[in-house]
Amino acid sequence: MKHSDLSRYKQKGEKITCLTAYDASMASLIDSAGVDTILIGDSLGMVIQGAENTRSVSMEDMIYHTSIVSGACKQSLVIADMPFNSYEDTQSALSNAKALIDHGAEMIKIEGGIEHTEVIKALISNNINVCGHLGLQPQLVIDSSDYKVQGRDKSSAKLIIDNAMLLESLGVSVLVLECVPSDLAKVISEQIKIPTIGIGAGRDCDGQVLVSYDMLGITSGRQPRFVRNFLNSQDSISAAVKSYIKEVKTGTFPSDSESY
Ligand code: KIV
Repeated sequence: MKHSDLSRYKQKGEKITCLTAYDASMASLIDSAGVDTILIGDSLGMVIQGAENTRSVSMEDMIYHTSIVSGACKQSLVIADMPFNSYEDTQSALSNAKALIDHGAEMIKIEGGIEHTEVIKALISNNINVCGHLGLQPQLVIDSSDYKVQGRDKSSAKLIIDNAMLLESLGVSVLVLECVPSDLAKVISEQIKIPTIGIGAGRDCDGQVLVSYDMLGITSGRQPRFVRNFLNSQDSISAAVKSYIKEVKTGTFPSDSESY
């Protein structure tokens, strides 16, 4: 997938698939299976580094993983997370985003809305493609009690809608919606022209993303309801990834019971 395909997919109603990858072997497998976009997520803090949250992930970590993942991808669009504290001001955001682009990312993702208006304007005016991330923002999570569905009441839902519309007006290319009620994600997906990629946001998003370690059952402990183990019904990792692609494309993942 190319960056320009994102809005084309939304227009023609084709769901966008995304999985995270952190290393060359997994990236190559996911890319060959045909996933549209690969995210080098700062979830690597938890799944690779064993941390409790994403906040200890550094720019050096992101550059390292971006470089090895992007080197292994032939067709998927590569998106890299800007880690916690790497986009607090325009100058540092620009130099950190450029570092990720120089190491193979085609787009960077940042969490939050209006508070990053100037940073997002600067990135986009410097031709850096930006993916937004609203709803549950993992970089604000300190411990597991902070993992809560967002936008359940009228005022917090309005804030997410307003931020989604703002991000679109600033020129953001695509928007991740994490842990929000399906109804809210549906309203946002209908209201903005850029594609939404949901994780715990219901089937009406324009695409879906999961942490690859979660959908392969590698992550230990109780999983959130939006995680499905695709390896349970398949006999190889490649088959599990292809099954994920098929279920997202046909709109059968996530089901109602995997949504809020
Ligand atoms: O870091 C990550 O893996 C993410 C996804 C959960 C969207 O941001």
